[in-house]
Amino acid sequence: MKPCHRPPAPFLLLLPLLAACAGTPQASPPKAPAPAPAPAVTVLPEAQRDVHSFARPEEVSVEHLVLDLSVDFTRKQLAGRASLRLKNHLGASRVILDTRDLDVRRVTLDDGKTEARFKLGDEQKFLGRPLEIEIAPGTTWVNVDYTTKPQAAALQWLTPEQAGSPHPFLYTQSQAILARTWVPCQDTPGVRMTYEATIHAPRELMAVMSAENPTQKSADGVYRFKMPQRIPSYLLALSVGDLAFRPLGSNSGVYALPTVVERAAWELADTPKMIDAAEKLYGPYKWGRYDILVLPASYPYGGMENPRLTFATPTILAGDRSLVSLVAHELAHSWSGNLVTNATWNDFWLNEGFTTYFEGRIMEAVYGRPYSDMLAVLGRQDLEDVLKELGPDSPDTRLYLTLEARDPDDGMTDVAYEKGALFLRTLEQNIGREKFDRFLRTYFETFAFQSMDTAHFVPYLKQQLLGGDESLAQKLQTDAWIYSPGIPANAPQPRSEAFVSVDQAVQGFTAGTAAAQLATTGWSTHHWLHFIRNLPAQLDAQKMADLDAAFHFSDSGNSEILSAWLMKVIDSKYEPAYPALERFLTTVGRRKFLRPLYMEMAKTPEGAEMALRIYEKARPGYHSVSQGTLDEILGWRG
Ligand code: BES
Ligand code: ZN
Repeated sequence: MKPCHRPPAPFLLLLPLLAACAGTPQASPPKAPAPAPAPAVTVLPEAQRDVHSFARPEEVSVEHLVLDLSVDFTRKQLAGRASLRLKNHLGASRVILDTRDLDVRRVTLDDGKTEARFKLGDEQKFLGRPLEIEIAPGTTWVNVDYTTKPQAAALQWLTPEQAGSPHPFLYTQSQAILARTWVPCQDTPGVRMTYEATIHAPRELMAVMSAENPTQKSADGVYRFKMPQRIPSYLLALSVGDLAFRPLGSNSGVYALPTVVERAAWELADTPKMIDAAEKLYGPYKWGRYDILVLPASYPYGGMENPRLTFATPTILAGDRSLVSLVAHELAHSWSGNLVTNATWNDFWLNEGFTTYFEGRIMEAVYGRPYSDMLAVLGRQDLEDVLKELGPDSPDTRLYLTLEARDPDDGMTDVAYEKGALFLRTLEQNIGREKFDRFLRTYFETFAFQSMDTAHFVPYLKQQLLGGDESLAQKLQTDAWIYSPGIPANAPQPRSEAFVSVDQAVQGFTAGTAAAQLATTGWSTHHWLHFIRNLPAQLDAQKMADLDAAFHFSDSGNSEILSAWLMKVIDSKYEPAYPALERFLTTVGRRKFLRPLYMEMAKTPEGAEMALRIYEKARPGYHSVSQGTLDEILGWRG
């Protein structure tokens, strides 16, 4: 197949990274910790610059952020000041920040007494508005006084009822380009900054951030945070609610509502083992603590790798620890993503493909090869599904994406995760695990606290792993994996011994064996998932009833099993389970589950009608990222 997108010319790949060094005398606000030595800004050639940010970090970059924000649940508003410490590389007379839906009240320079001239540019779809501030070459700080809007896309303000708590609840979701809806910043993963924050919360609530965190409520509702390691803006995170904390190990623990925290601590008890396994594989954990915040059910993602504090959906609390690969995934991001960060969203596979590969390795180390083989087979099936959905020639099936003029969210599919991981497994199997692990360890170490784009990664890979042997790179089809659609022929086919019995059960059931007669003793969540996914596309009502009577899928407390089953319910028009479907859609906000279910319903006129009826009820409880996706699928005009 001919690549649609030619790899960039080699001379572009070797452009040096611009070092942002310290040394400017500090003005107030408070002193920041000394920056680490690695460069904080990656300067990309024009063709590869981040098309999702107005910022011009090659002129001036932000190296430290000081936030002081009050949380007002009644107005659904954050209000306060963001002070940004600048590094002016070119003696520029302006700095450009990203904003979306922010009310900027006032901008001052340095000590906060000098008013700055600023202008907010025109609104652009997905991107918001550039905030251009006039500075002098010697300006160190810009201070932006602002408030957020109630509809700020990163923020979800939950009523007590929605939160399942006697108190309201707030959380942020900044990835990919939503940080700008709650903090004016250079909202591009190519810029890193340290930060500190003071959050004024209602007195009975606790605030936590992607930073050093409290484990107890303060007396006055004021919380101070410090993030001494440099992070990109999409890892800025805040949550405020009636939170309790339980330790899991010496450097890890879990935060959740008091009614959930014991269950969460039990479910996530293996986290310390995962941290050990990850460190043995790819080097020391560099972020101090690793805690997990279990959020209310409307959380739109499975998990989010906010540094020091992974945000997680409560749908991982299956009661049997069977969905904890999600923790392995978010933990793995502490290396792939948070240490070495995709420079633009076109390079998303460098975050998610590496993380999915690393997740598999952690799961293998902690739970054994048969377990990780099951995950690999299920992942391969996810990849087949997304290829079918997008079409094998779709540009969105390439690892290197072209997201220009699009919401980055649209191009972020399972391709980055599963094709990315499959590519790395292909490399591992051809080169040998030992050598491949050494390569990855060195990669994380060499580029720690920096960003990486595909154009720099490819020559690094070819040189460091393949020894500069271009014929080997050709044989491995490296460029085709990265720049062409579909799956190259040298992809390994994952296999799972454990699934042999499942395939037999599927065959037996299809041939007429009663559900209760199938040999399913000892099956885990993953066996059941493989079973449900591989049942015939449609089943008659009697067969569906037989399955449900034998295995109680409609009552499953396991979100993965229940959502897989509900897909069959929709395809088979199995009405007795419609109440279970409606219950799920009105209580869970995780987009990965909602999207396929609503899409499947929307395929038939009766289904679309039901979908709209349920959506009208459920929509106010969903986070804006789920709403955005589902509005489009259902043609919703509010
Ligand atoms: N970083 C992602 C979540 C994300 C991606 C948020 C793109 C916004 C834009 C996170 O690490 C992730 O991949 N979460 C998965 C779970 C994982 C086990 C595959 C999810 O949310 O389903
Ligand atoms: Zn991820």
